[in-house]
Amino acid sequence: MNKKKTLSRRTFLKNTSAGLAGTATFSALAGTSVFCSPAGGAEVPAVLGGTPVRREPFPAWPVYDDTDVQMYLDAYHSKQWCRLGGTRADRFEKEFAGLMGVPWCAATSSGTTALNTSLNALGIGPGDEVIVPPYTFVATAGVVFQVFALAVFVDTDPETHQINADLIEERINEHTRAIMPVHLGGGAADMDKITALASKHGLPVIEDACQAWMGEWRHRKLGSIGGLGCFSFQASKNLNSGEGGAIISSNRELIELCASYTNNGRPAGQQRATLSGYPFPGSNHRMTEFQGAILLGQMRRLEEQTRLRTENAACLDRLLAEIPGISPVKTYPGQTRHAYHLYMLRYDKAHFNGLPKRKFARAMEAEGIPVRTGYEPLNKEGFIEYRLNSRAFRSVFSRERLESYRKGNRCPENDKICEETGLWLGQYVLLGTKKTWRTSPRR
Ligand SMILES: Cc1ncc(COP(=O)(O)O)c(C=O)c1O
Repeated sequence: MNKKKTLSRRTFLKNTSAGLAGTATFSALAGTSVFCSPAGGAEVPAVLGGTPVRREPFPAWPVYDDTDVQMYLDAYHSKQWCRLGGTRADRFEKEFAGLMGVPWCAATSSGTTALNTSLNALGIGPGDEVIVPPYTFVATAGVVFQVFALAVFVDTDPETHQINADLIEERINEHTRAIMPVHLGGGAADMDKITALASKHGLPVIEDACQAWMGEWRHRKLGSIGGLGCFSFQASKNLNSGEGGAIISSNRELIELCASYTNNGRPAGQQRATLSGYPFPGSNHRMTEFQGAILLGQMRRLEEQTRLRTENAACLDRLLAEIPGISPVKTYPGQTRHAYHLYMLRYDKAHFNGLPKRKFARAMEAEGIPVRTGYEPLNKEGFIEYRLNSRAFRSVFSRERLESYRKGNRCPENDKICEETGLWLGQYVLLGTKKTWRTSPRR
């Protein structure tokens, strides 16, 4: 008899610290919800050849219907594919601003260009510093280096996986020009502490809300609290147009500078393809009419999908509470609504006989549960040294300043999250129903 197959998921873990199974979480995900198999029990882990606990796929993403397709085709047939002269990107800006509870929105071609535009609108450039978290997508820091400024990484709060707001002040100096918190996974950074620090030091806050559509802090939409809030509509996002982005603000002057920047420096509101009259610096970060059409269609279901994710996340919270060693990350008390782009988890291998998180994730994947291992430390990525060693950075920054930047670039808590404790499930996992499903008879 194959010895491997006689091992139960639980015995396997008991017997080996280098094993590949994830018993406890498997049990946690078993039960009565969309995540669950009613069978449960002690079987051979799928990673060792057993039957996966779940074989049904999670809901497909994106979601669309005939109306979405028609809206897209209408844009096509209008022959107005660029927003200059079009109506759809304009309409999207108005509707998105309304949804976010702010007067102004400037659409962009992506979340990255929304962040880049914001930095340019604020005049942030060579020699400046911007405070950012290290547990985020590369663009958050990449855009800062792109304007020949230094992204100063502030360590992550291990309880929430958000920037640790208590560590921000010690990184503020005479070169700091902005604080750029990320509302990671749709959870909120601690906006009470961040806005207090920003006003104390006279700094603008650019909220990277690229994962936080519909999330709220004290009943205000994430992205609407700082001076500028940036969103992404890239394909994996809860609001998806393949690529796309937006900046929101309550400050008319700032949003006009943003709108101008996205349109090669034409005056804000100038939506004709002029060949002169560029009073401002700019680039082409315009949203297309196709993106506008897709977003107008997709926005129709954003509220309902957000509600469903929240409901399913609450169910998963309850189930995980029974399992020592794996738990959802906490949120700050000021967060009144979560956007659930990611369902972020803290993993403690001590409760899994020392099983490293990457092996745990592999075992979960084999069981049909798409657990991801999350970000790698952004502050250690190769592009940073590449930038620091570039001719441009060496002419803008003194050798001493670059050395001091390198020395200060340490985020030990973040390293631990990336290496040992941080896991997540993607937003589409939370879009299922709570019907109990059955796997076929087990081997
Ligand atoms: C936190 C964060 N910031 C910025 C971006 C960049 O957005 P985009 O991919 O639309 O350029 C993303 C996208 O993944 C993100 O998650």
